[in-house]
Amino acid sequence: MRKNVHLIEHPLIQHKLTLMRDKNTNTKEFRELVKEVSALMVYEISRDTEMKTIEVETPIGKTKGKVMKDEIAVVPILRAGIIMADGIIDLIPTAKVGYIGLYRDPETLEPVEYYCKLPNHLEEYKVFVVDPMLATGGSAIKAIEILKERGAKNIAFVCLISAPEGLEKLSSRFPDIPVYTISIDEKLNSHGYIVPGLGDAGDRLFGTK
Ligand code: PRP
Ligand code: URA
Repeated sequence: MRKNVHLIEHPLIQHKLTLMRDKNTNTKEFRELVKEVSALMVYEISRDTEMKTIEVETPIGKTKGKVMKDEIAVVPILRAGIIMADGIIDLIPTAKVGYIGLYRDPETLEPVEYYCKLPNHLEEYKVFVVDPMLATGGSAIKAIEILKERGAKNIAFVCLISAPEGLEKLSSRFPDIPVYTISIDEKLNSHGYIVPGLGDAGDRLFGTK
């Protein structure tokens, strides 16, 4: 495994992943699981976050306390990333949110951009790009290219399930960008779906099939 890739194996997360994979899990449950797992992932990822000390006044008196140093921006890749972002924002309500709309061309599997709205001054933020599935890696690479063009310097990619093919492609294109995933699955099938994966994340989240 490349050193930019971090596999998060917390038992609670792995338990919920198994429920997400189950084809009998309905849309409501699936959406809740994606939100919960995304929040738990960010809890794990932020363990090493740099802190700064500030003064705070309690009802009794003044003291010093620690707060996170980095401002956070969460950038979901539409559509499926939206629900991951929801889970993260529950935990970090001050996070700024940007959106990158991409869909995979079903024939070429290449990402097609259809929307982009990002916070200003991206260089000031730690940016979490979120998308449940890293399959061929095309969407993740495209999103990171857009963010870099817009000035982002401190980027991490957070996904649920990844395919070895996509991880390799993403890591060789951006070896310094950390990738957090909760499972590295077997392979891609001939339609670019992750095996065993969990199916089409967008369709399962939004009930579109
Ligand atoms: C899915 C998924 C990723 C992309 C991953 O989105 O949410 O964005 O595919 O595939 P890749 O690594 O091969 O690029 P999809 O394009 O199906 O769009 P949707 O979220 O609108 O359903
Ligand atoms: N997108 C998905 O939603 N699922 C996959 O397995 C691959 C790409």
